[in-house]
Amino acid sequence: MRIDILTVVPELLESSFKHSILKRGQDKGLVEIVVHNIRDFSEDKHRKTDDYAFSGGAGMVMTIQPIESAINFLKSQREYDEVIYTSPDGIQLDQKLANNLSLLNNVILLCGHYKGIDQRIREHLITMEISIGDYVLTGGELAAAVIVDCVVRLIPGVLSDETSALTDSFQDNLLSPPVYTRPADYKGWKVPEILLSGNDRKITEYQEQQAYERTKRLRPDLLND
Ligand code: ADE
Repeated sequence: MRIDILTVVPELLESSFKHSILKRGQDKGLVEIVVHNIRDFSEDKHRKTDDYAFSGGAGMVMTIQPIESAINFLKSQREYDEVIYTSPDGIQLDQKLANNLSLLNNVILLCGHYKGIDQRIREHLITMEISIGDYVLTGGELAAAVIVDCVVRLIPGVLSDETSALTDSFQDNLLSPPVYTRPADYKGWKVPEILLSGNDRKITEYQEQQAYERTKRLRPDLLND
């Protein structure tokens, strides 16, 4: 999978992808994440990427030209499955959407800033808008980092333990069961006996039951879906 991210503040994103699991995915050649500075595509002599809103009021609007040039440049190199804009107006990111996105080959992620982007970009160039939740961030970069993180870890081979993405919270509309490690008894805080039994079938049954009970208690809405 290749993910191209368009932003006016590449510094906000660069370190996010240089560590741990996302780095491993890139090192193994399973995903390529390329961050582009939208200013590099601006035809303005001061590399401007925003302007006043025709409607007046506070806040600048990102202009069409640099964004269209950046998207056209990328599209001249390869075909893209989706051109995604990160916005609070978009469809809300969840595990199902992350699963679907992880099956795509090439994706562009456009990060908004200021008051947003000129509406005509959304109408003519964007194929999908994604929100990471009902709150407003100062820019789309953190949203893009969240989307990339949860999508990339689902690409087969990125996680070292292939099954671990399958047992994540939400993967079957269930929260994950609690996990424990050594010591089995810490100052009297004990690990449930059954997990020490060595009986794989009983342990699996216990974990499934825990996942169900936790979901019922903490997120009953997931069971209704
Ligand atoms: N940009 C600003 N707020 C956002 C949000 N909640 N989700 C995605 N992009 C955003």
